Amino acid sequence: MINLNVSLGARSYPIHIGPALLDMPLGSFVGRQVAIVTNEVVAPLYLERLARPLKKAGILVTEIILPDGESHKNWESLNAIYDRLLAERCDRTTPIIALGGGVVGDLAGFAAATYQRGVPFIQVPTTLLAQVDSSVGGKTGINHPRGKNMVGAFWQPRLVLADTDTLNTLPDRELSAGLAEVIKYGLIRDLAFLEWLEANMDKLLARDAAALSHAIERSCINKAEVVAGDELETAKQGGRALLNLGHTFGHAIETGMGYGVWLHGEAVAAGTMMALELSRRLGWLADAAVERVERLFVQARLPVRGPKLGAERYLDLMGHDKKVIAGRLRMVLLKHLGEAVTWAEAPQTEIRAAIEARCE
Ligand code: NAD
Ligand code: GLY
Repeated sequence: MINLNVSLGARSYPIHIGPALLDMPLGSFVGRQVAIVTNEVVAPLYLERLARPLKKAGILVTEIILPDGESHKNWESLNAIYDRLLAERCDRTTPIIALGGGVVGDLAGFAAATYQRGVPFIQVPTTLLAQVDSSVGGKTGINHPRGKNMVGAFWQPRLVLADTDTLNTLPDRELSAGLAEVIKYGLIRDLAFLEWLEANMDKLLARDAAALSHAIERSCINKAEVVAGDELETAKQGGRALLNLGHTFGHAIETGMGYGVWLHGEAVAAGTMMALELSRRLGWLADAAVERVERLFVQARLPVRGPKLGAERYLDLMGHDKKVIAGRLRMVLLKHLGEAVTWAEAPQTEIRAAIEARCE
């Protein structure tokens, strides 16, 4: 088992990564009662395995099974969680465990942040994307029809338990989607990891256990360092915002196409290519660097062009992004491979040209 730590003073917590972790006793984190939030795809695969030892220890387990998919990351699902927590008389000490991908994690985390003004939260991520990104760092929330993740809260988990065996049941398309966020860490701050990914992409796609563990570990180390330095994304330059490389364009794709049509990781991959195209237009990235990243995304079976929404629609949707501050869009761009910056000075004409150059 790999053990990491997210250093946030009193809110610090461990990340455990490895096989068979669903069997790890969680009793010390849980009192009399616990609520497990999952969905109808993950429940038949892993819910009983996680719940059984808790039940055996005499803990009252409330199982909350949501419909599957990004289109359900909304108020209805959140209310369904509150309804069950209240019906089962969960109190302020009842931990909520998220068992599933980023959708379940973001929803359950937001419920934990808000139910009775906040209850303990545990992340048990079961997708690659959730194990390398969404389960770490405490961003929680739901989508609004007008914009991705527009309603939410920062609420750190007490523990992240990433059982790598769960990735064996993940569809290939979802594995690739997770790789988009893995590649992101290499691009923004870890050139050696980017080079490792180029050399090991085939192993990752073949689900080689050692390669996947290494990719999850390096991703979590990078994420934990960034989050520890700028937990609430308030740094004026750089900081946690750098984790959003490709996300401003990507969120426009997800919202514009309708939630769930493009997977989050797919939208991030195409959005990252738009951000790199813009970095190239600003004279920062060489053609060869952009082509090199495109090859890596293609190798990971990810899209490198966005859907044809029209540049105006992209720009309109991007205007709702959380990175718009006082009307200015703060983009995450690359100075070099392995070095990202935040930049609010990109001319609108260049942003438009980057979108047009990178659409289907
Ligand atoms: P997801 O949660 O929809 O999971 C993908 C699919 O895989 C779903 O159908 C799910 O039911 C299924 N699944 C989950 N685990 C499985 C398993 N082990 N075997 C088989 N199927 C399994 O999508 P995701 O990619 O995990 O997460 C995307 C979400 O995460 C987006 O909403 C995105 O905004 C959010 N996100 C949040 C953060 C954050 O910091 N909070 C970071 C990145 C992404
Ligand atoms: N996924 C972006 C962040 O956690 O900040």
